[in-house]
Amino acid sequence: MTRWLVTGAEGQMGTDLMQALQGEKVIGWGHKDLDLTDGYAVRRALHAAAPDVVLNAAGYTDVDGAETDPEAAGAVNMRGPGVLAAACGEYGTILVHPSTDYVFAGDATRPYKVSDTVGPQSTYARTKEAGEVGVRSAMRKHYIVRTSWLYGAGGDNFVKTMARLERERDTVNVVDDQHGSPTWSAELVERLLELATSGVPWGTYHCTGGGATTWYGLARAVFEELGADPDRVKPCSTAEMPRPAHRPAYSVLSNESWETVGLTPMSPWREALAMAFAKSGDALRAG
Ligand SMILES: NC(=O)c1ccc[n+]([C@@H]2O[C@H](COP(=O)([O-])OP(=O)(O)OC[C@H]3O[C@@H](n4cnc5c(N)ncnc54)[C@H](OP(=O)(O)O)[C@@H]3O)[C@@H](O)[C@H]2O)c1
Repeated sequence: MTRWLVTGAEGQMGTDLMQALQGEKVIGWGHKDLDLTDGYAVRRALHAAAPDVVLNAAGYTDVDGAETDPEAAGAVNMRGPGVLAAACGEYGTILVHPSTDYVFAGDATRPYKVSDTVGPQSTYARTKEAGEVGVRSAMRKHYIVRTSWLYGAGGDNFVKTMARLERERDTVNVVDDQHGSPTWSAELVERLLELATSGVPWGTYHCTGGGATTWYGLARAVFEELGADPDRVKPCSTAEMPRPAHRPAYSVLSNESWETVGLTPMSPWREALAMAFAKSGDALRAG
């Protein structure tokens, strides 16, 4: 039986990983149990737990916050994965490390392939890209999985925010000029577990919900799932809603790398959203 270790086990992805691994040999460590930035603690933890696979769900994910606290973002997203990867390398452990669509510049006109040149445009994105480099250079037995627009029952996310705003406001303005692929965390983690023990070549993969939309399109779909009128969602531009961190206009990832090696494809994003509401509607509605 595979022995699993989940870091960041109390975050959005971490919660879903722990749920998916119920009944398996798994140790889940939240932030307070294991600080990824503490190299000594990471090595000691790996030595004690002796896992076959580490699933690194820990990350600094406040995209705007990273602009004012690049040091904190860098410690968790850049140096942490490098330390973790080095320790995994030392113990022969497989590392599954999530990364982000935001590593790309966002000026493409077709979905980004794994082989496309990265061009991170924000502090968060730069730290995530540097984390990828750290993992690759530290050890061989790794899977870096870029995903995007994640939502799940156990985290703060756009879907929950829309559910809350649906209750609080008559209309909601949402940007309609950023394109990406919403990804249901519960489905993604099933795929990550499949990947970890699949034996497919080490390296970098893309895994997101199928197809693409804009935040406006996703918000309308959330309203539909809530039984609310989607026309209460109004489109606006990124320029009308300035944020501290730059977001790519187009960060759709191609799942070709994933499907070519025979891994199970992800559902189309709209179907996955319906499944998410069917499974975890109360948590998503609670906002
Ligand atoms: N959310 C998205 O849309 C998205 C998209 C693409 C990729 N990703 C990637 O997917 C991964 C998981 O994202 P998520 O949405 O699950 O994020 P999340 O909900 O913010 O969870 C991240 C977890 O990491 C913990 N953490 C922060 N600093 C830590 C440290 N120094 N040591 C150990 N744990 C620490 C956090 O704990 P505290 O809250 O206590 O700090 C939190 O529980 C991240 O690598 C992220 O970059 C996310």
